[in-house]
Amino acid sequence: MCTKCIIRATVIAVVSTISSSQLAMAESDQQKTLDAQALKLVKGFGKDLKHTLVSSMKKDGPAAAIGVCNLQAPEIATKHAHASGWTIGRTSTKLRSHTNAPDEWEAKVLAIFAQKKAEGGDLKKMQYSEIIEKDGKKTYRYMKAIGVAKACLNCHGENLKPAVSAALKDKYPDDAATGFKLGDLRGAFTLSKSVK
Ligand code: HEC
Repeated sequence: MCTKCIIRATVIAVVSTISSSQLAMAESDQQKTLDAQALKLVKGFGKDLKHTLVSSMKKDGPAAAIGVCNLQAPEIATKHAHASGWTIGRTSTKLRSHTNAPDEWEAKVLAIFAQKKAEGGDLKKMQYSEIIEKDGKKTYRYMKAIGVAKACLNCHGENLKPAVSAALKDKYPDDAATGFKLGDLRGAFTLSKSVK
């Protein structure tokens, strides 16, 4: 390479390093703020969902609660997302409802969580966020791992009551979300918001 070219190549390299690191800094501040907002939303949504599930199981038993969960989970998600411009949902690699199927980005993050879990990571601390750009639009995306708690085993565990199995077969003939053990990775909360 000629000397001029080397100098030019070096200048370009330095300039691009500076601009990309400045960009990374600006985004990381924005990302930190969004991470905090996402975590708050997830906590509210998760608490509400669990409360609804547990109270309807106590009242009518787990088989009847399946119907409640089926209808109320998306409703509760909408309630928490409402007015704030966020989209909230749940996803998993082992699905009960196909409406919760992961897209490419979500599948990537679920694989990261599974890998971390296999390495002994704590599910409670697992979260992942990124600002992605698609068709010229910037979107902040966030996921938080969901572990299997005791109450979840009624409908996602290894030994389901016959009435629960029957109700699940009826509503979800392709159900792949059973056979979980306490502390397993069940899936993740998934949130997104368009940003500038
Ligand atoms: C009363 C039965 C019941 C209990 C208890 C229950 N679930 Fe579910 N779960 C369902 C049903 C029905 C669906 C599918 C409908 C939906 O919520 O989207 C589902 C879906 C999910 C999904 C979305 C992914 C998919 O497979 O469609 C996740 C994640 C999940 N459950 C996690 C949990 C966790 C964690 C607990 C314990 C805190 C729990 N569930 C307790 C019935 C139950």
